Formats: sequence, C-alpha cells, structure tokens
Amino acid sequence: MQRKRLAVFISGRGSNMEAILRATQDDSYPAEIAIVISDNEDAVGLETAVDADIAAFAFERKDYASKADHEAAIIETIDENNIDLICLAGYMRLLSGDFTQRYANTLINIHPSLLPKHKGLDTHERAIKAGDKIHGCTVHYVSEEMDGGEIIAQAEVPVLNDDTPDTLAARVLVEEHKLYPSTIAKLCAD
Ligand code: GRF
Repeated sequence: MQRKRLAVFISGRGSNMEAILRATQDDSYPAEIAIVISDNEDAVGLETAVDADIAAFAFERKDYASKADHEAAIIETIDENNIDLICLAGYMRLLSGDFTQRYANTLINIHPSLLPKHKGLDTHERAIKAGDKIHGCTVHYVSEEMDGGEIIAQAEVPVLNDDTPDTLAARVLVEEHKLYPSTIAKLCAD
C-alpha cells in the first residue's frame, strides 16, 4: 500500500494533529503525516511534530510583504513535498480563493460545530446560548467561504443542562479526535 502524504496545518495546541499522528502509527492506516505547517512559530504542536521526526515549518505572516507572498511560500513547501491531502487542524488563518481553488479537492478542515450551524469562532458558547440540544463537529472541504465548503462527515454530541463552553468543548474534542482520523482514512483509501 502506498500511503497518502498529508500536510497538517496548525496554529496552536495541535491535539487534532496528534490524533492523526496516533492513527498513522498503525501500519494499516492509509496515510502518513509528511509535513506540519504553522503560521505561528510558537505553536505547541510544532514541538510535537519535531519530536515525532516530522518535518515542521513555521511561516509567520509578519515575515512576508503580502498575504499572497505568505501563501506562495506555503504552496512551494506543499508542492515540493508531494502532498496528497492538506488537513487544516486548528489553523486560524483564512486562506485566499487562489489557495482554496488550487487545492480544491485536497483541502479539508475540522470545525467544532454541526455546520452549517455556528460558522466561525466561539461555537460552543453559541450552541449553548442558542439552546441547541445537539452539537458536534464537522469535517468539510475548504472553499473560499469560511466554514462553507462541502460537508464530508459529522459527529454529534449532546448538550447537557449544566454544560459550560469548556465542558462542551472538551466533549466535542473527544469526537474530533475520532472523526478526523477516520474521515482522512476514508478519503485516502478511495
Ligand atoms: C479544534 O476544536 C478544531 O475543531 C478547531 O480548532 C481547534 C483546534 O484544536 N478548528 P487543536 O489545535 O487541534 O488542539
């Protein structure tokens, strides 16, 4: 089996990246993390990647004159590394239309809500305020519209009466860590 080569994009903690990494440790998993890219050189997840002997790159926006230049540097690294699938995992920067179109069928994200509900930030707080009984997470293709691309897979989580944004986030994160690796496996097996 030729394993598919993943690029995982992070900005911080990187717990979804770690969940993907754990899944790839099984020889039957159809993908491997080839590179990790961050827009934040202090992202904790970069250390995790380096400890796992994965090539890790930080591209800080402030080091480039324009968004296009920043993305051009990232694109060069992706294309040099023969990447099959780009997985955004807590990557906090919006990608341009040029970028999303270039990788239209090979660029996915995990979002902590049941899209199309609660696009954007603070999803757990908004789900509680809206009185949602069911919340969850979504893996979707990335298009130019933030959190608006085609939905690939979702996992549901009940909202409990005494939930705070933090307790709900923790319960959703457990599902994210299962949904993202399993969805990537399905995409890479096809
Ligand atoms: C996750 O909740 C993910 O759904 C969202 O950002 C968070 C990233 O967490 N896009 P981590 O960096 O993977 O721990």
